[in-house]
Amino acid sequence: MDNYSNEQNEQQVVSLPRIGDKAPSFEAETTHGTLQLEDFDGSWVVLFSHPADFTPVCTTEFIAFQEIQDDLRELNTELLGLSVDSVHSHIAWVRNVKEKMGVELKFPIIADLNKDVAKKYGMIMPGESTTETSRAVFVIDDKQTVRAVIYYPLSTGRNMAEILRLVKGLQTTDEKGVATPANWNPGDKAIVPPPKTQEEADERVNNDEYECIDWYFCKKHV
Ligand code: BEZ
Repeated sequence: MDNYSNEQNEQQVVSLPRIGDKAPSFEAETTHGTLQLEDFDGSWVVLFSHPADFTPVCTTEFIAFQEIQDDLRELNTELLGLSVDSVHSHIAWVRNVKEKMGVELKFPIIADLNKDVAKKYGMIMPGESTTETSRAVFVIDDKQTVRAVIYYPLSTGRNMAEILRLVKGLQTTDEKGVATPANWNPGDKAIVPPPKTQEEADERVNNDEYECIDWYFCKKHV
């Protein structure tokens, strides 16, 4: 089989879990031993891929992910990294980051050498690289449903404040039944879901709890 056919073949087996789908289950070797997705049932998970160990952008990202681990844990959310490197490569890189940069990376990293998990999650973008995972982020909730998906290219490090904001926004939606507007941050007012009936539309503009610009556009404190 030539390279072109290989690439076509690879593209056929790749799938992309969509928002609202059950997160594909897996069992994988990690720097913390063998883990299954089901081990995280009851917690939210930020599953993220990076292209390769011992690369500069990834190193900055891993340090930044470690910096938000405590904040994520307060939101009942665990970090889980992934690349197609071996466990020994991950271990060596983790040790290097601690030695050279003084940061202990405490979250598990999947060694997806045969790309099993990467394929299940559509983390490889053949147009960008057929051998490395792109910078994907899957936010998986405590019932193992995919709630958000972010993709960044190899060249661009991710923004941890946005990942934290996304998890907080999703959990606020679940807890308070609201949506979150552009650039929302905890403490800001949230959007009340649109009315479903004429009566609801009339009621909401007179509701003191809401700050309405018009019948379809009301905010409230959460
Ligand atoms: C990096 O992490 O620095 C990197 C990895 C793959 C391609 C480009 C940059």
